[in-house]
Amino acid sequence: MNAQSIQYADRFNGLSGSAIREIFKLLARPGMISFAGGNPSMSALPDEEVSEVAQKVLKEDGKRILQYGATEGYPPFLEVMRDYLQRHFGVDMTKNGVLPTTGSTQGMNLLCSALINPGDRIIVEDPTFLGNMQCMRLYQAELVPVRSDEDGMNMEDLEEQIQRTHPKMIYTIPTFQNPTGRTMSLEKRKKVAALAEQYGVVVAEDDPYHDLRYFGRELPTIKSFDQAGLVVFLGSFSKVISPGLRVGFLAADEGLLRKCVIAKQSSDLHTALLNQAICAEYISSGRLEPHIAAICQSYKSQLETMLRGIEDIDAFTWVTRPEGGLFIFAALQEGMDALKLLPRAVDAGVAYVPGTHFYAGGGHENTLRLNFSMATEDKIKEGLRLLKTAL
Ligand SMILES: Cc1ncc(COP(=O)(O)O)c(C=O)c1O
Repeated sequence: MNAQSIQYADRFNGLSGSAIREIFKLLARPGMISFAGGNPSMSALPDEEVSEVAQKVLKEDGKRILQYGATEGYPPFLEVMRDYLQRHFGVDMTKNGVLPTTGSTQGMNLLCSALINPGDRIIVEDPTFLGNMQCMRLYQAELVPVRSDEDGMNMEDLEEQIQRTHPKMIYTIPTFQNPTGRTMSLEKRKKVAALAEQYGVVVAEDDPYHDLRYFGRELPTIKSFDQAGLVVFLGSFSKVISPGLRVGFLAADEGLLRKCVIAKQSSDLHTALLNQAICAEYISSGRLEPHIAAICQSYKSQLETMLRGIEDIDAFTWVTRPEGGLFIFAALQEGMDALKLLPRAVDAGVAYVPGTHFYAGGGHENTLRLNFSMATEDKIKEGLRLLKTAL
């Protein structure tokens, strides 16, 4: 017997690693201009401030921070987060609790662990974030895609799919969606909360881009309309402070939260206390708001530069025009295949993510996702010139 004969769990049937993570390996080539990832810009990472904050929290509470802690969270983090969720995201904290998670990636994992049996159905936007589809597939969920309009999920299609498939969960990224950059309208946000209550379905509202708004008015979260305790709010500090800290949070009804705590106990025991302490202090010392304002200013110019540059490329037939976030989504002329064209683009020195990976049922080969936060404006212009030639 050797490793070739290992019998792997059924949950891996038909699953390969994330296609995006494979593309990342290509990016190591020197000089490559990446429109592929979803990383914050290097200049948006507040390393000096985080260093100051880390020293302060260690000086003040080092012994507790360096010890094991409760799965439920580091108390100063919870205190800051209760206020922040109520004030900033409109979550009624008299009816909900909050759990720190190791990135919002873990939040989705805990939620699936709490809710999903093999064969359960989860409604997803079509297209949607690949990473979380991967998580749902590991829990052997059946994904039910719902059509996406300019202003979020199509509500007729959503209700029809709820009635037809009796899903356990609806997964949505209402603000500056990954991969499209689209934002769900106010009316649709209210409707999603109402449908959840009418049909008794849990809604996972994944909102990591909420604060990266460059145009238009902020919209209330779906969670703020949740009367029935069926909406779970997943947030993250990855896009606004640092993805390397791996701090996210999950706000939900206490009963559901308890199941997530139990799942987390055997996942990682708790999210790193130092990182929870850093995020708590970063917020309570008033650093977060000016930092977000500063990064939004440069992301806005980067988005505008990318949208202007795209107009120059005849191969594109449409492109989304987001009011925030980190991505635009675009379509090439019918018959062009973004997956097949990727090696040619990479040879030319520019990378993107083929859109087909974000559709639950594949297809849509002519689409692609472009990130504008990682390249400077000059690099965006140059990357688009290279892309134009490659296409
Ligand atoms: C929609 C969405 N949800 C969740 C995540 C994961 O975030 P985190 O770093 O908090 O795990 C991402 C990251 O790209 C994302 O785009």
